[in-house]
Amino acid sequence: MKVLITGGCGFIGSHLAIRLKGLGHQVWALDNLSRQGSELNAQRLMPLGVQVVQADVLNAADLSLPAMDAMILAAAEPSVSAGLQGAAGGVVDVNLKGTLVCLELARQWSSRLVFLSTSRVYSIAGLRTLEYRRSAKRFEWCGDACPGFCPNFGISEDFSTAASRSLYGATKLASEIMLSEYSRLYGLGAVINRFGLVAGPWQMARADQGVITLWVARHQLGLPLRYIGFDGQGHQVRDVLHVDDLCELVMRQLEDISHWHGHILNVGGGMQRSISLRELTELCVDTTGNRVDLDSQAVTNAVDIPIYITDNRRIESLTDWRPQRSVEQTVDDISEWIRKADPAVKRVVSG
Ligand SMILES: NC(=O)c1ccc[n+]([C@@H]2O[C@H](COP(=O)([O-])OP(=O)(O)OC[C@H]3O[C@@H](n4cnc5c(N)ncnc54)[C@H](O)[C@@H]3O)[C@@H](O)[C@H]2O)c1
Repeated sequence: MKVLITGGCGFIGSHLAIRLKGLGHQVWALDNLSRQGSELNAQRLMPLGVQVVQADVLNAADLSLPAMDAMILAAAEPSVSAGLQGAAGGVVDVNLKGTLVCLELARQWSSRLVFLSTSRVYSIAGLRTLEYRRSAKRFEWCGDACPGFCPNFGISEDFSTAASRSLYGATKLASEIMLSEYSRLYGLGAVINRFGLVAGPWQMARADQGVITLWVARHQLGLPLRYIGFDGQGHQVRDVLHVDDLCELVMRQLEDISHWHGHILNVGGGMQRSISLRELTELCVDTTGNRVDLDSQAVTNAVDIPIYITDNRRIESLTDWRPQRSVEQTVDDISEWIRKADPAVKRVVSG
């Protein structure tokens, strides 16, 4: 297949590009290299024969690209805090207008589509309403099940997507809606994956995005960290999906799109791969041998949530794909990558 990956020099995009190339596909990685460190991913893609196209996704229709059999839409401003302290234009441009440009191309080329969406489409107020208690190391749900929520499994696709969900979440949800329309109107095979937290090597972590890698990197490099929000004790919980598990899923989806067509699926590490920041700190100390200064900010920002854990039951009913890598392995892999990385990588991931 000819496959175009927008955001192809980002964290997830570059892993997908390498996988696809390894399977013998022709791969184009379109990226404007706006994410700090994406140029380092571009440098490792080019020798492998991935066509790196340095361009803004908004201008993708002006490029002379061949008709693609498949497109993976991964270009984004992926921070849930985007626009909190400034103009909304940037995040809306890349996350929503960028999707629309790609959908037009997909229509012309009759491409199959894989959309990398997010758990952040779900209502922040709704997620904050779920009852929880504080145990020594983490927050734990303690209330009753409600639509889209089961305390033993987490958040499913039926959870409310009502406002508000952050600019990031809103642009992703709007993109999902447009993609579904294009898919139906023009007969494009398409699947939407709502990923929770994804982590692994080659994630160019920033203070506002890529928390697992940021945590490991700053431990590895002996730099301070800060617990932010919900009293600043690090009890917030997320589930973690290793990027290699994500890649294995997307390969299956591209190879047999008719099986996946029309589905909107939560995809994450699930209950078994959930961890709080406090627990992550201990894991990072064990893995790297370094304990770092931990500051605390009690005030919670407008888009944070106490707990998010993915209910994978819908996707598990469609496939025998399952996440394989533990949180410990994810942290190990990131630590090993940073330990061996050259100074340019270390400069970027030290945040
Ligand atoms: N990392 C996660 O935990 C996570 C979770 C859920 C969903 N996602 C989604 O997966 C996708 C990839 O995320 P990621 O973690 O690899 O992020 P990333 O920031 O590493 O990759 C995104 C890439 O898009 C590029 N980009 C940004 N604006 C662009 C533009 N206007 N034109 C062309 N390229 C542009 C950046 O330079 C970057 O390389 C995103 O759509 C994100 O919303 C990520």
